[in-house]
Amino acid sequence: MCGIIGYIGKECSANKIVLEGLKRLEYRGYDSVGVAAVDVQKRLVIKKDVGKIEEVHEKLNLLEPSSKITLGHCRWATHGAPTRENAHPHIDCKGNVAVVHNGVIENFLELKEELLEKGHRFASRTDTEVVAHLVEEGLDSGESLYNATVNALRRLKGSYALAIISTMEPDKIVCARNESPLVIGLSENSAFCASDIPAILPYTNKVIVLNNGEVAVLEAGKVEIKRVSDNMPVSREAKVIEWTIEQAEKQGYAHFMLKEIHEQPTSLRNALRLQEQYLDLITTFLDRGDKIFLLAAGTSHYACIAASYMFSKLARLATYPVISSEFIENYGDSLGIDTVVLAVSQSGETYDTLKAVDYARMKAATILGITNVVGSTLTRISRAYIVQQSGPEIGVAATKSYTAQLIVLAQLALKLAKIRGKLSQDEIDELKTNLYNIPDIVENILEKREEKVKEIAKKYAKENLFIFLGRGISTATALEGRLKLLEISYTPSLAYPAGESKHGPISVIEEGTPTIFICPNDETRKEIIGNIMEMKARGAKIISVCEEDDQKIKNLSDDIIEMPKQIHPILTPIPYIIPLQLLAYYIAVERGLDPDKPRNLAKSVTVP
Ligand code: F6R
Repeated sequence: MCGIIGYIGKECSANKIVLEGLKRLEYRGYDSVGVAAVDVQKRLVIKKDVGKIEEVHEKLNLLEPSSKITLGHCRWATHGAPTRENAHPHIDCKGNVAVVHNGVIENFLELKEELLEKGHRFASRTDTEVVAHLVEEGLDSGESLYNATVNALRRLKGSYALAIISTMEPDKIVCARNESPLVIGLSENSAFCASDIPAILPYTNKVIVLNNGEVAVLEAGKVEIKRVSDNMPVSREAKVIEWTIEQAEKQGYAHFMLKEIHEQPTSLRNALRLQEQYLDLITTFLDRGDKIFLLAAGTSHYACIAASYMFSKLARLATYPVISSEFIENYGDSLGIDTVVLAVSQSGETYDTLKAVDYARMKAATILGITNVVGSTLTRISRAYIVQQSGPEIGVAATKSYTAQLIVLAQLALKLAKIRGKLSQDEIDELKTNLYNIPDIVENILEKREEKVKEIAKKYAKENLFIFLGRGISTATALEGRLKLLEISYTPSLAYPAGESKHGPISVIEEGTPTIFICPNDETRKEIIGNIMEMKARGAKIISVCEEDDQKIKNLSDDIIEMPKQIHPILTPIPYIIPLQLLAYYIAVERGLDPDKPRNLAKSVTVP
């Protein structure tokens, strides 16, 4: 998991542009960083080291040398520990070729063996380095950089977004894609490639998304795309991207995560402006399915858990939310032509999800998708898909993309209820009104409750165990609230349906253990009050997220976060997660951690 960027232009500003781009890609990986430039004497200059971009720049001055062509890379280690040697770019034996890569070359060991036998010398333990030596082989036998690259690509198995330069042809970047994202940007006098759009957006909004199996040659102001398999030219118009640069920057917030939490009223409104025809299409496929799986990983999986309650309660339809990495083992043998798989993935590039989707496709299942990234792999392999319109999410912890997924799924459940005739028109109208109020409710919570959450975060920040409990649809909120806290504050935490407490987990409760109850005023309220009492009796500190004026729950709680009244029970997962996102954020900040860059995590997990 890494970020790559390449720039070629007519001015000697390549390093500056690549450095700026790397900063916007840092969320993809930040254990080491490097650049490769061809300087004015046509020498390849490599600068790389372990550390975050600013640290490495301070040490090595990544703005130099002056160059018209530069590649950059920020790394999240997969093969080979985070060391200077393993940092990208990687070079060939002669130091003429430089390669940056995001992905995994599955057959690198056999290729490496073959290249070693031919006398190549390797400097790293990475899978990527074989690419530099394969290209070197081609150049040595008189091939052009393009042909040498294509011949190398044809030998690779696995996933890659690659960008390659050579001192022999310093007016070209050759880049290619297979299963790892890569976009190309164009302007009059320059060309770019990058792992995602925000990296190049300050310089151009004309973007071409490269598809799997395609290779592109970039020259200043020019791009040529071909298919790797047969060298056939590909003609694809550049899209004009409407995102502003500000959308991809912090806008005055201390961290991207906080900015993105505050963007939720807007991202929810955007997700309510989806084109009806796509919602209708997905609903029709869901209705036709015999077995319906909701496939996702991490936060997206919790959105699917909430959705399974929505589909059941509104449309009387049973669906199975399944963690992507378990799908094939658990359900692979039961799939068939009547199966519908709705895959939910913010990035649309999560390896586990795509692998499960591929398997289901092979078994003739219908694949549907919900994602935030236009042109992502998921959009290309789905029969029908919805783009949730959350805008780029930079913080590693999913926030606005989660609530947008929920509101998209709620719209589908509502439509499904309608076509299946399970709700009256009055009920549908009432729910729709509720749904369209959600962005305002979220705005209100952000305005009125942030200070209270901050106070609670301060009070409990040093605790070393948190418990999150909910019942019914709020189980999803408990799980997601726990994941947020866990991943950015590194605080061990448990979450499960509150009814499970007495089947084991209650034994961890000690005097003062902070226990967070998600208790909207729905049909589970009476039972959750019972669970609160059980925990209180064992000394737990009770923090409740409940409806304002819920006196009974207030009386049982040490701290409360009040939510507005009259939110439809099926929609509570959206507003009720907001204070828990804020709680995780402020606890991480209290602990002196950087919530945007949790250790060991990356935004988009594109490797097995
Ligand atoms: C947690 C988080 C991850 C992702 C998971 C799936 O905050 O962001 O758990 O939800 O890696 O990613 P997508 O949705 O891109 O498939």
